[in-house]
Amino acid sequence: MRFDSSLDARLQAAREILSRSRRVAAFSGAGLSAESGLATFRDPDPDALWSRFDPIELASVEGFDANPQRVIDWYNWRRGNYAGVQPNAAHRALAGQQRMIQITQNVDHLLEQAGVAPERVYHLHGSILHDRCHNSVCEHRERVDIEKPPGLRACPRCGDRMRPAVVWFGESLPQETWTRAQRLCMALDCLLVIGTSATVYPAAGLIALARQHGSRVIVIDINAGAASDAADVYLDRSAADVLPSLLDGFDLGSDS
Ligand code: APR
Repeated sequence: MRFDSSLDARLQAAREILSRSRRVAAFSGAGLSAESGLATFRDPDPDALWSRFDPIELASVEGFDANPQRVIDWYNWRRGNYAGVQPNAAHRALAGQQRMIQITQNVDHLLEQAGVAPERVYHLHGSILHDRCHNSVCEHRERVDIEKPPGLRACPRCGDRMRPAVVWFGESLPQETWTRAQRLCMALDCLLVIGTSATVYPAAGLIALARQHGSRVIVIDINAGAASDAADVYLDRSAADVLPSLLDGFDLGSDS
């Protein structure tokens, strides 16, 4: 059920699915944090990060090797944009579902700031609040002060370069987190897909994986796209606008 009925009817259909679902999880992207003021990557607006910057120059190992200072400066600019940003009504609605697991591509910690227990947030693409050693054998990791982030520096443990603890294009997802996310999506009754263009793999593959294992899919996105094409119900509204009413009165969980 996508565009072929009113939003109220689709909202009712989505709530109907949730009322029959024992195991529910959320899979989110940059659209979840858009109404907190953080730029998305591919929105058709001039602020979208990949409209303004070259992802390979700034979010890849090649870019870091070519010009580490430029990459560190760009992430510290993003960290500056994040300072003082607050969770929005969508984060708070999700935090109201304490038993639900949040699989997110977002590197911000707005779900945790809204009250989601850190162990119930699976950050598939890492964290902008941390630096890690570029040497994947060393794995030294530090939380950074995003108001005064460190510049280009050596790892205190092995001397290689420190870099933001985010997953760059061409890098593998954190193995244990990725395995847990896949295992979870193979045992769901419903997957809430919130604010993602569903174009970056392997993360985007979770939607098809959930469907293949019998899960229903509810998509919340202001634009139709790859995710809404796979939806049982597509809610073409902003996350902050629709999640509070979608989840109102439920106590959803992800564990069987
Ligand atoms: N409410 C709901 N959806 C929204 C909102 C909103 N307020 N604002 C934007 N969106 C939707 C857009 O329509 C789009 O479908 O959020 C999605 C954002 O898509 P992208 O910008 O591609 O972000 P994302 O899907 O998270 O990107 C995935 O790509 O660059 C990498 O590592 C980066 O994790 C990121 C990954």
